[in-house]
Amino acid sequence: MKVLVVGSGGREHALCWAIAKSPKCKTLLAAPGNAGIAEIAECIDIAAEDVPALVKFAVAEKVDFVVVGPEAPLVDGLVDKLEAKGIKAFGPSAKAAQLEGSKTFMKDILAKYDIPTAEYETFDEPDAAKEYIIKQDSPVVVKADGLAAGKGVILCHNRNEAFAAIDHMMIERAFGAAGDEVLVEELMVGEEVSFFALVDGETAVPLASAQDHKAVHDGDTGPNTGGMGAYSPTPVVTKALHDQIMIEIINPTIKAMAAEGAPYKGVLFCGLMITETGPRVLEYNVRFGDPECQVLMARFDSDVLTALLACATGTLKKTKIKWKDETALVVVMAANGYPGKYAKGTPINGFANAAAIKGVTVFHAGTKADGDQVVANGGRVLGVTATGKTVKAAQTLAYKGVDAIEWPQGFCRRDIGWRALKR
Ligand code: AMP
Ligand code: GLY
Repeated sequence: MKVLVVGSGGREHALCWAIAKSPKCKTLLAAPGNAGIAEIAECIDIAAEDVPALVKFAVAEKVDFVVVGPEAPLVDGLVDKLEAKGIKAFGPSAKAAQLEGSKTFMKDILAKYDIPTAEYETFDEPDAAKEYIIKQDSPVVVKADGLAAGKGVILCHNRNEAFAAIDHMMIERAFGAAGDEVLVEELMVGEEVSFFALVDGETAVPLASAQDHKAVHDGDTGPNTGGMGAYSPTPVVTKALHDQIMIEIINPTIKAMAAEGAPYKGVLFCGLMITETGPRVLEYNVRFGDPECQVLMARFDSDVLTALLACATGTLKKTKIKWKDETALVVVMAANGYPGKYAKGTPINGFANAAAIKGVTVFHAGTKADGDQVVANGGRVLGVTATGKTVKAAQTLAYKGVDAIEWPQGFCRRDIGWRALKR
């Protein structure tokens, strides 16, 4: 098969790495890819958001299957447009992608089908939002409805903070049209976990649980990022909790989406708060997490391409998925200054030494080739991934990999996995 992977991050490198191992994959293309992806796939210079150019390319090159990494092209209908041209694709339709693209769409589905989540109200007018806030006697979270690059969520500890958040989104329009509608919801307390499932419209197959580290510095301090590291599985999600999540949350969501005329296909990434009253949905994403995808791919012990294809063709029920009975852990190396201002173009070396460590794989997240030299080309730059029998073993190995990388202008957290180790 000729397979095209859309995207340029660590998630897409991990997907390419796993897909390339499939005997079914004859040609692997990536748009736009990065320096690591270029070692295993042919990189095409088309941006992941350029839906018309991607469709045109896939048609012209007779691509058999397109795997979409990031959410933006999904929300913009890339899968619908490919399927209209007879090209199979992994990922939800534009309508189903509203589960991530619109928080009000997502919350309304959960409310309509009684799926556990935080209490909420939506507003398109700041005064009404503030009146609602005054009536709440516990802290709230203010969220922009649309995609706001992960920044449209403000946890408010008191009324003044909540009012400021409303003004920021609705009056100063900090996120543009994404803040035309806002949600005010109850602040939930508990431990946060991610849960992934492959879905083919009807059937959901649980992938695994994972926990990421959003804050930039050790001890979960400093501003939030796209994720500084992750591990899978997470010990918080016991077998009983796993089953509860499937029965109370994932399966009802799949049924709801089908009933709403937007059957869900692709990977469903559920952000959950494990509260005293059980698991409740924080958010849905319609794509793999980054860096969670890196640890999922590292543990996957079946043919990934077959599994992703089954989502597109409605044949998941017949597909067996096996996991390595190991923990995988990824440490993200980022450019000094990230998530604030950072430099691009700094040289990175030591890849061969890191790769020589058994059990270590270095995924590129934001790199490019400058002649023979790999240079940094983003905020999150590498995802050093390792597998081991225990969280501790995987962690030790991943940091061995990190220490083999020579990049004075980069940094990483030194405590990835701490929650699991504390248990
Ligand atoms: P979201 O994009 O909606 O997942 O929000 C980003 C992050 O904000 C989540 O990963 C949580 O850490 C936090 N968060 C969002 N909503 C809530 C909530 N209702 N209660 C507590 N924390 C929340
Ligand atoms: N690491 C979190 C995300 O991909 O949204």
